[in-house]
Amino acid sequence: MSDNPNTDKNRPLIGLAQTLGQVQRLVALTGAGVSAESGVPTFRGPGGLWRDFRAEDLATPQAFARDPRLVWEWYDWRRGLIAQVSPNPGHLALAELEGLIPEFLLITQNVDGLHRRAGSLNVLEIHGSIWEVRCTGCGGLDEDRRTPLPLMPWCRNCGALLRPNVVWFGEALDPARLQMAHEALRLAQVMLVAGTSGVVQPAASFALWAKEYGARLAEINPDPTPLTPYCDWVLQGKSGEVLPLLLTAMRQNN
Ligand code: OAD
Repeated sequence: MSDNPNTDKNRPLIGLAQTLGQVQRLVALTGAGVSAESGVPTFRGPGGLWRDFRAEDLATPQAFARDPRLVWEWYDWRRGLIAQVSPNPGHLALAELEGLIPEFLLITQNVDGLHRRAGSLNVLEIHGSIWEVRCTGCGGLDEDRRTPLPLMPWCRNCGALLRPNVVWFGEALDPARLQMAHEALRLAQVMLVAGTSGVVQPAASFALWAKEYGARLAEINPDPTPLTPYCDWVLQGKSGEVLPLLLTAMRQNN
């Protein structure tokens, strides 16, 4: 994508910017790609975590039951990595966009907390947060930002083992969050999907639900995804570059 928002190549960006200038209700959905430019590895694709690690060994309830120390070591490593990075211009642009649209919900599959650090307020972390721990005994939930964490971390109240408060493969999403997402998708006029491969359910279906309910879809990703054919605007590029350009184009329209 060129830096000049007025070139032909950027037409979808101009069109989307014009539409966003009039939209009342928008849902954004983000995935690991939005944090890639901060230095957080994605899951799939070149350099993706699932190239080097097996999800079955690290991100399932069975893996935790079998070898909690291994799972905690992996999460502790990721926490250490995320603690050292900062939100990138894509996160910041989404936070700014929230201030321009009357009803804005950011649904993220990311557990890194970078959207909130960038200033986004209405954020639904549907896969949980890597900065929260949950007790496997009493269910108590706590924020814990220590890096490294003591391996293994135990509950101060009941003494049972703590786990990361993230959603693992084979686990259901929190029904209240799912309900909130569904309600916003039902009412959205535009849905903006950025940095997700669109293959993990249920998030992969969110854009299609929104479209079914009448929303127009925009995608920001350097590569095509299964969602691309359904999108009204396809902005091919990195979210840390495209989203700031979109904001610039919106400002120029006003
Ligand atoms: P993936 O790793 O599956 O996909 C990352 C997407 O980001 C790909 O489509 C890339 O093309 C795109 N991408 C890479 N760099 C980008 C950039 N700079 N700007 C924009 N896009 C970029 O990540 P997710 O779709 O988030 O779940 O994965 C979904 C879920 O699968 C994760 O939440 C995690 C994982 O297993 C659990 O752990 C439960």
